[in-house]
Amino acid sequence: MAEIGGMNIRALAAKYGTPLYVYDEGRICDILNSYREHFQSDTFETGVLYASKAFSCKAIVKLIAEYGMYLDVVSGGEIYTAKQAGYDMSKIFFHGNNKTPEEITYALKEHVGTFVVDNLQEAELLKELSENADYTVHALLRVNPGVEAHTHNYIVTAHVDSKFGISFLNEEEIVKTIEVLKTCPHIAFDGFHAHIGSQIFDRNAFGEEIRKLFEYAKHMKDTYGTDIKTINIGGGFAARYTAADAPIPTDEVCRFILDTCREENEKNGLNVHRILIEPGRSIVAEAGYTIYTAGGIKTTPNRHYVFVDGGMSDNIRPALYQAEYDAVVDGKENEPANTEYTVAGKCCESGDILIQKISLPDMQRGDLIVLKTTGAYGYSMASHYNKLPLPAVVFVKDGTDRLVIRRETFEHMTALEV
Ligand SMILES: Cc1ncc(COP(=O)(O)O)c(C=O)c1O
Repeated sequence: MAEIGGMNIRALAAKYGTPLYVYDEGRICDILNSYREHFQSDTFETGVLYASKAFSCKAIVKLIAEYGMYLDVVSGGEIYTAKQAGYDMSKIFFHGNNKTPEEITYALKEHVGTFVVDNLQEAELLKELSENADYTVHALLRVNPGVEAHTHNYIVTAHVDSKFGISFLNEEEIVKTIEVLKTCPHIAFDGFHAHIGSQIFDRNAFGEEIRKLFEYAKHMKDTYGTDIKTINIGGGFAARYTAADAPIPTDEVCRFILDTCREENEKNGLNVHRILIEPGRSIVAEAGYTIYTAGGIKTTPNRHYVFVDGGMSDNIRPALYQAEYDAVVDGKENEPANTEYTVAGKCCESGDILIQKISLPDMQRGDLIVLKTTGAYGYSMASHYNKLPLPAVVFVKDGTDRLVIRRETFEHMTALEV
């Protein structure tokens, strides 16, 4: 692959330096289009929220706005970024298991549309802080339906120990929390939110989640007269990191979710009228690439290492949870990949390995290695470990490039030091 989005990789590296995050903007737009087109229903009002934790910056928020999508944020910083991008605050959903009083106050001042309330204490705090609100604050309650999904497996357990949301098994707290929200003059309680995991390949995990949410909504209606109008299924839609990954196509997963919701709505005699999803990874992961420059090559009795000029500071995922990536070497696409390399970063941690094993052509100092599918939870989880400056981020589209985040300098890194 000599190009990303019609831009020559070597030219990008020469212009902006490495490590460099590059996003194929056209690819993001195609995915946004696909969600917009397929998450539509005759039965329900529908909405797609971009989970901005996957990659938050003004440029991506502006794209999300262009495509008419909602925004999921989890901190004051993500609200501020949305504000700086000129995003409509009423379309923001504010998540998080420990929103601070300062964050809640800030969100209310900015007229954030919906709070996804995590627990009883937070509902009480929101009630107190929204006393003088000059608008109607919408609220969803994050519940834990006891379905946990990760990659190829999902389990249905009485998983009561999650730090997020209130378990269906803790009905007393659910009822009390809804009661608090319903008795606030400025709060409109809309319904439930759940999020069951990440990188989900099995549609039945979503099916199980939906069944449990609707059955519980019926139980709430029959027992307490509570009307659940909105159900937010959460995110977790998979991306293709390596050839072994086969995510469910967007059109199929959207259809499956909406069909299952319609069936469950009818079966349970409910009148849920809005269904939301909140993908993060599946919108930005595959559009993102990281370009590194190879430095030293080291051979030990059991390994060939190729060292790169970044690592866990710009992409913590392999070190954090053994995430796997595929990579190519620019300009060597036609050379035989006959050596197995370990791609290691430059940070002072022996766990700083970006790829444990990958067959690549013979590597030389100065080669450009391009990691694929780095667009989600890469830059957004980056750190200053070893005082490495954060890389620049560039969007490319139709043969043009635009810088969306500048590379940090040494001066940035000490700017706050007193
Ligand atoms: C509440 C919530 N919604 C949505 C997402 C986005 O998940 P994904 O990026 O896997 O689609 C997350 C991710 O952690 C989440 O916690």
